[in-house]
Amino acid sequence: MNRGIFISFEGIDGAGKSSHVQAVADAFTHANRQVVQTREPGGTPLAEKLRDMVLHDAMDPLCEALLMFAARRDHVQQVIEPALARGDVVVCDRFTDATFAYQGAGRGFDLKVLSQLEQWVQALPSGGVRQPDLTLWFALDPAMAAERLSKARVPDRFEAQPAAFFAKVHQGYTDRQQADPKRFARIDASAPLDAVRSQVMQVLHERLYLQDPP
Ligand code: TYD
Repeated sequence: MNRGIFISFEGIDGAGKSSHVQAVADAFTHANRQVVQTREPGGTPLAEKLRDMVLHDAMDPLCEALLMFAARRDHVQQVIEPALARGDVVVCDRFTDATFAYQGAGRGFDLKVLSQLEQWVQALPSGGVRQPDLTLWFALDPAMAAERLSKARVPDRFEAQPAAFFAKVHQGYTDRQQADPKRFARIDASAPLDAVRSQVMQVLHERLYLQDPP
């Protein structure tokens, strides 16, 4: 049986990661792997309800952080762990790094509290804490991301934040990468779409998740 693989996608709003999530899922399907494509906050009926609240209703940063982790708990238990146990590939648009970047660095919420929640919510029965095997971080200058976002649809509570907020979120991702450099692959998201796609596929081949040449 194949070993399960857990891949998360991260980056500030406007970095363009979402367009690559489908391509990665398709590449694994093409390689005859079972793929579970999902997202956070969300991925289960309960977590999707929590997503709607957290993206649109006013609340304080503690409430926001708790709802992110509540959604994550349901998602990890109902979807991610069963998929990995079956040997599937989990392709997840955002995971806990987003909470450290947005609620931690962006909102200024206590990182120690977030670490404690991370340990509870992602605890493995065998001990240890579930983390992605690979995190594709779509890194983009916050000013460029803001420019891209201004052309997009009606903003949610996060997308509506000023550039200074995204500069902090970007720093939050940088800090997470420095704390766990092996897990992260930094993708230069300022490049044209095709070049970004090539970087992503290159990483999947380098890590031997995909065998065919890119
Ligand atoms: P996003 O992936 O940008 O969804 P969409 O492309 O549909 O807008 O995620 C939604 C927002 O949620 C995004 O602005 C980041 C935010 N978020 C957090 O603040 N903390 C978290 O833990 C997660 C998972 C997301």
